[in-house]
Amino acid sequence: MEDCKAVLDWYILAGVEETCADEPYNALKSSINNFAAKPLPPTATAVENTAPRPAVTELSQINTAACRYAQDICDKAQTLDDLRAMMETFDGCSLRFSANSTVFGYGNPQAEVLIIGEAPGADEDRLGEPFVGRSGQLLTKMLSAIGLKREDCYIANILPWRPPGNRTPTSDEVAVCLPFLKKQIELVNPKIIFILGRSAANALLDNAESISSLRGRFIDYTSPNGTVFPTLSSFHPAYLLRTCSQKGKSWVDLLRLKRKLAEM
Ligand code: URA
Repeated sequence: MEDCKAVLDWYILAGVEETCADEPYNALKSSINNFAAKPLPPTATAVENTAPRPAVTELSQINTAACRYAQDICDKAQTLDDLRAMMETFDGCSLRFSANSTVFGYGNPQAEVLIIGEAPGADEDRLGEPFVGRSGQLLTKMLSAIGLKREDCYIANILPWRPPGNRTPTSDEVAVCLPFLKKQIELVNPKIIFILGRSAANALLDNAESISSLRGRFIDYTSPNGTVFPTLSSFHPAYLLRTCSQKGKSWVDLLRLKRKLAEM
């Protein structure tokens, strides 16, 4: 009994706060089966000097293969429906095995404003739609304060699967899922991208700056097909729920978004 308690205490200390399935799942084994045997398709970066240093550990090699597999899939998708179907069967990210739903982007496929959050939480995982919990309710109010309806925007996350216990996604998980978000951006082709929170901003803009320094600035994002999209980053609604004192700055950002849209 004491031993069981010690193990549970250790799990909690390590950030594991809930169980996701009845059976343990060996993410490493599944990924090896799915990806290690696949020959990697040649990529343009392989012949450039700027190619990243080859991955040396088994895990990072598997992740590199999964990233390329995700990119291959995205290259083939012609529509959001194609992409959604492909994403729902994609098994290169172990998060999908602990999540209840694949939370694909929601909203107007021709939206002028595309909103990006980090990852689904418990409510989103249960209902299969992004930003439907408390953060989502605040987001809906924030948008309506500048005359935007939630359903007129397109709302997506960096990750379509909930990380267990809402832990911060690892950089490998972000890397595997990012091609799906980038493809959604290309297919929706919005006028502007509104990014919520540091991890979404860092992932899409490929930087490591704090949200305090990124927020309120228009920064161009160039998609893999070469289209340039203006982005504006701001605080994540979940952070605003915890830190009301930052709501004033968030309001300034929303007004910037509104003005920019009016000028476009
Ligand atoms: N937080 C996010 O970043 N995305 C959601 O969909 C919900 C909460």
